[in-house]
Amino acid sequence: MKPQRETWGTKIGLILAAAGNAVGLGNLLRFPSKAALYGGGAFMLPYFISLILLGLPVMLIEWVIGRYAGRYGHGSMTGIIGLFFKQASWARALGSLGVAIPILIVMYYIYIESWTLGFAFLSLFGMMPEPVSSPDPKVAMDPYLKFFKEYTSPSLLAGFFFWITLFINWIILQRGIARGIEITAKIGMPLLIIMGIFLGVISLSTNNWAGLEGLKFIYNLNFSGLKDPMIWIEASGQIFFTLSLGMGAIATYASYVKPREDVVKAGLWTAGVNEFVEVIIGASIAIPAAFAMFGALAVPELAKEGTFRIGFMTMPAILMNLPFGQILSFVWFMLLFIAALTSSLALIQPMVALFEDEMKWSHTKSVTVSMIIVIIGAHLCAFLPHFLDEFDFWAGAVFLLIYALLEIIIFLWVFGINNFYQELIRDSVIKIPKFFVYIMAIISPLFIVLIGYFWFSEKLLEVLAEEDPYKWLARAFIMAFIFFLGIIAIISRKRVLEGPVL
Ligand code: TRP
Ligand code: TRP
Repeated sequence: MKPQRETWGTKIGLILAAAGNAVGLGNLLRFPSKAALYGGGAFMLPYFISLILLGLPVMLIEWVIGRYAGRYGHGSMTGIIGLFFKQASWARALGSLGVAIPILIVMYYIYIESWTLGFAFLSLFGMMPEPVSSPDPKVAMDPYLKFFKEYTSPSLLAGFFFWITLFINWIILQRGIARGIEITAKIGMPLLIIMGIFLGVISLSTNNWAGLEGLKFIYNLNFSGLKDPMIWIEASGQIFFTLSLGMGAIATYASYVKPREDVVKAGLWTAGVNEFVEVIIGASIAIPAAFAMFGALAVPELAKEGTFRIGFMTMPAILMNLPFGQILSFVWFMLLFIAALTSSLALIQPMVALFEDEMKWSHTKSVTVSMIIVIIGAHLCAFLPHFLDEFDFWAGAVFLLIYALLEIIIFLWVFGINNFYQELIRDSVIKIPKFFVYIMAIISPLFIVLIGYFWFSEKLLEVLAEEDPYKWLARAFIMAFIFFLGIIAIISRKRVLEGPVL
């Protein structure tokens, strides 16, 4: 008997779900802030080079391997990596790190997601602070800065939207792949694109199209960034983050395709839609709006204050000053919410797949246990200082890099270049030339090692030198969680081996 796994309902649903996976807060908040912080055009060349040399290769690898593993009934990295080593315990435990990464990310991501939902409704009901019209960003943003601080210090209001957000995620995951995630994406993604284009036009046209200067700043491509290791680290990190790569989350979605699905097409669509929402829509909203309102000098300063400053304080300060400001602010935060929701579902699904495929638990039990774990972790991130940033640093940057390298080594080298290539071209209309697989197998890992070296020398030691008990508590939690999933990988091994052998 073949284990019955769910599949995506339709081709378009599959593409939209995968695009929803990749398109998230990374596109609309993280990207513009990083681009502004690292000099706009100087950031973009390393960004596009990373897209070609890292993003596309790892995207294709995860799709190909996900479909392959799905045929054997595995959708989480635990089972997928196990597949290449006869389900040896060590390989399964290593695979579980690939489940730990997205879950550690979702523990803070879903908290940010709940702010966007809260701010959307507060905008709509006129509960955001009154705008102050001023050319000085500090003055204009001041009410929103205070408001943001009040809101995010534990309050009942914030708690309310936090629990609603958790609940919405729970319900959708419980409904499953086709009836939950896919339907959400089918409704959400078209809406997201329409709202994104709408806000892009609003931002660019503000103050007589002064916003266009902001777009020019981002696209003023220049070579100065190529010499700066920090820019390489951030640009390649952004590529991984925005495309949801290096943690098996794409592979999990790919494991639910029908056996003969064209995964090359699906992978290229995923990357294509994501990049459209990033470098076209994402580039046209926050930065141009800030340029138009506060001028060129203010923007990098704002970006220095972090990702949240521009999204949650600068944007409302700008939008609320425009005609129909409350509605515009509502649209902005709903846009963020939809983007975040379709990503948080994708971040949790790998753990659901781990429990279903490996522990052989029922769907309901798998979703319930996964959600309880996410809820506990999310509360830690909400209440304890530094947890959010520590989780983002380790899971959202360091581990990703290591894991992507591991994926290339196992899925190309251990599996074999030829085997991989056969899987890649099977059922695909676009025949990727074989030399591209050699780039994937050789250039991409060298590139990762180089960036990893930059990381190590520029950032890691400096970060580890900081003394703060909460940071160490966060790190201890991360370690304990990885250990816990490793145990799950090992105890579920027997259930998998006893199960039907294909
Ligand atoms: N790509 C998402 C974004 O741009 C964030 C993300 C990172 C993600 N890793 C993921 C989403 C894994 C789903 C699965 O915001
Ligand atoms: N400290 C992070 C930053 O400013 C916050 C963050 C982490 C974040 N991941 C995110 C913000 C994803 C938006 C989206 O970069």
